[in-house]
Amino acid sequence: MKIAFYDTKPYDRIWFEPLAAEYGYKIKFFDYKLHVDTAPLSAGYDVVCAFVNDIISDEVIDILHKNKIGLLAMRCAGYNNVDIKAAEGKIRVVRVPSYSPAAVAEHAAALLLSVNRKTYRAYIRTRDNNFSINGLMGIDLKEKAVGIIGTGKIGQVFADIAHGFRMRVLAYDPYPAQGLDVEYTTLDDLIARSDVISLHCPLTKDTHHIINNETIEKMKDGVILINTSRGALVNTDALLEGLKSKKIGGAGLDVYEEESDYFFEDLSNDIIPDDDLARLLSFPNVLITSHQAFFTREAMQAIAIVTMENIHTFETGGALDNEVVAH
Ligand code: NAI
Repeated sequence: MKIAFYDTKPYDRIWFEPLAAEYGYKIKFFDYKLHVDTAPLSAGYDVVCAFVNDIISDEVIDILHKNKIGLLAMRCAGYNNVDIKAAEGKIRVVRVPSYSPAAVAEHAAALLLSVNRKTYRAYIRTRDNNFSINGLMGIDLKEKAVGIIGTGKIGQVFADIAHGFRMRVLAYDPYPAQGLDVEYTTLDDLIARSDVISLHCPLTKDTHHIINNETIEKMKDGVILINTSRGALVNTDALLEGLKSKKIGGAGLDVYEEESDYFFEDLSNDIIPDDDLARLLSFPNVLITSHQAFFTREAMQAIAIVTMENIHTFETGGALDNEVVAH
């Protein structure tokens, strides 16, 4: 198998190179993302391997199909960036449905603790011999209500962590999990009663901008919003308004609606042309990480192993358990 691997970072090579050698596969690592202009480079390969911010539109699918790519192997769980309908009958699509729910849930918890107790600000202060604690006051999480939107694999681990903090756990999911120690309720009720809201649902047309002006209006004053799922679950304009009006007391964001031009890149010598991102970064109560919730040793290893297994199953004509199909 010859694999065209897009949007490569040094840590991808560490995990994928030795495995590819074991399977006898050849990988060409491209630094650039997969989109209309780079898709033609897939000519001569059998498989394309892509990631969260590649743009796999119908046009890209057509180019891959013309280049006789049989498999699109997403090395991630989410596939909102793939036009699955366009892929039907042209190219098979697989993903890594679960590699480490703990990695993402633990990062969500890290964001929550940091935003609440402002440890990122304390770190900067004490390094500058500023030992003042003015402005760093948080709240006890104990006995506060956390609302979890989406109680799949990650949401369930996050619920466990929240129980560890002795929080009251509310949840909303159109497909509630059985036997989970949470109080399922409606989205509106969760929004109205939660001190902390954490998003763990996929990005679909139903969940696009699930957090918007209307939902923010119904939230408790000072609510903390955590988003480790997908940026477009949150309407950025509404979030900015909510922060400016102080309705939202803090936000921990690992994802951002327009992240694809920025996240994973070192732009420290550049001017950020995205005014919304720049504004978000200016708030003292907003902590943004660059889509790193998945990024643990265990998760990277599992992603590489499952991706290679997916490719091997495709090669040998087995049943593709991790295939994504249009509904
Ligand atoms: P999952 O498929 O196990 O769980 C998703 C849950 O969301 C399901 O229970 C589903 O019923 C629920 N859901 C679907 N529509 C909903 C709606 N309208 N409202 C509320 N809930 C809804 O997925 P998993 O593994 O828990 O991942 C969740 C999301 O986390 C992924 O879709 C992905 O976007 C994101 N993610 C982010 C990572 C990061 O590094 N920041 C890494 C991995 C995943």
